[in-house]
Amino acid sequence: MKTHRLFLHGLGNVGRRFVRLLLERGDLLEERHGIRLLLIGAADSSGAALCPDGLDLRALLTLKEKEQGIAELPIFGVANQTGQCLLKHAEADLVLEATPTNLWNGEPGLGFVTEALRKGLHAVVASKGPLVVAFPELAALSDWGNTSLPSMRFSGAVGGCLPVVNLGRRDLAGCRIQRVEGVLNLSTGIYLARMEEGLALDAAIAEAQRAGLAEADPSLDVDGWDLAAKLCILAQAVLGQPTRLDGIARRGLRDLAPNEAATARQRGERILMIARATAGGDDDSFRLSVGPETIGPEHPFYALQIGASGFLCETDIQGRQVILNADQGPMGTAAAMLRDTLEICERRQYAVASTDQIVHNEGFSK
Ligand SMILES: NC(=O)c1ccc[n+]([C@@H]2O[C@H](COP(=O)([O-])OP(=O)(O)OC[C@H]3O[C@@H](n4cnc5c(N)ncnc54)[C@H](OP(=O)(O)O)[C@@H]3O)[C@@H](O)[C@H]2O)c1
Repeated sequence: MKTHRLFLHGLGNVGRRFVRLLLERGDLLEERHGIRLLLIGAADSSGAALCPDGLDLRALLTLKEKEQGIAELPIFGVANQTGQCLLKHAEADLVLEATPTNLWNGEPGLGFVTEALRKGLHAVVASKGPLVVAFPELAALSDWGNTSLPSMRFSGAVGGCLPVVNLGRRDLAGCRIQRVEGVLNLSTGIYLARMEEGLALDAAIAEAQRAGLAEADPSLDVDGWDLAAKLCILAQAVLGQPTRLDGIARRGLRDLAPNEAATARQRGERILMIARATAGGDDDSFRLSVGPETIGPEHPFYALQIGASGFLCETDIQGRQVILNADQGPMGTAAAMLRDTLEICERRQYAVASTDQIVHNEGFSK
């Protein structure tokens, strides 16, 4: 049984659910994967904590449920200590990044992930900021640039548990991708469902906020920034196209005419916020756009329920691949982080086993 030591940056909706998965899935991971995951460090906005024998997960969750900071964790909590700083002293194998997304400078996640990769640690990233701001730099520090470097996985950053990056990167290997479409933003799906019923955008936002389903500042979702960030990551990771956020044509829900969603519904059509990449732009590049689009009943996204997500990829030799998921939200993203963690841990175990094998074979041939 191999133990892998983890350091988690961010204990919010996603981070807390990841901790809960560690607590509840320990036996399954040991039985099914032969892997033991030990959380030795964690950080939030109050500070950080480090314990080489493993932090008390129940104590950590209880603390966060009481809306306290990790700085208040008995014995191990340190106030005003940043995760990036404490990481320098941590004997970790893998870091998990789940702090708020900042699309303009990538922080605090970017510094943390960069520090980890430079230190030779593997990284699982849920926040979009570091990948949007510095994908080429992070790729160069990780196995995206050189397979001998630490692994970086970020399947949760783009579609939560919808395996968008894995499908595009692994399962469409050898294909030419001709077109990509994604419904990958939960909040705009909720607003549009109410707008189809005749509610104005502002009223739909206010209603979702009252129900705790929308951000206090909804503009990242409404104006298409969140979806553009996901497309920016996808374009680089799956389509291999260097992309900046400002290179994506972006429209938002405010660009819809009043009642446009309701009128579309009456016609038997729907309007969804769609991220789109179409091959055949200048220099054989993909044209990238996000915005509200009208679709008819023949489209695979037509039947998407409120809050569901979908991804469609048109290829030359695998035809059209479509994946849909009904359960988005923070648990889906935490599950994606677990999936990425297990992939990395299994690769590490395989790499160690292969090295042993090579040493053995060399010894045998001499
Ligand atoms: N929620 C989802 O469904 C979802 C889906 C896909 C991707 N994501 C991405 O995953 C990330 C986490 O999302 P979330 O919903 O868990 O966010 P969240 O609830 O706002 O939690 C963010 C966490 O980061 C901590 N934090 C803030 N500033 C920090 C700093 N300077 N240093 C260390 N920790 C800091 C916060 O500390 P406190 O606890 O002290 O406030 C909190 O624990 C975001 O980037 C988001 O875009 C989320």
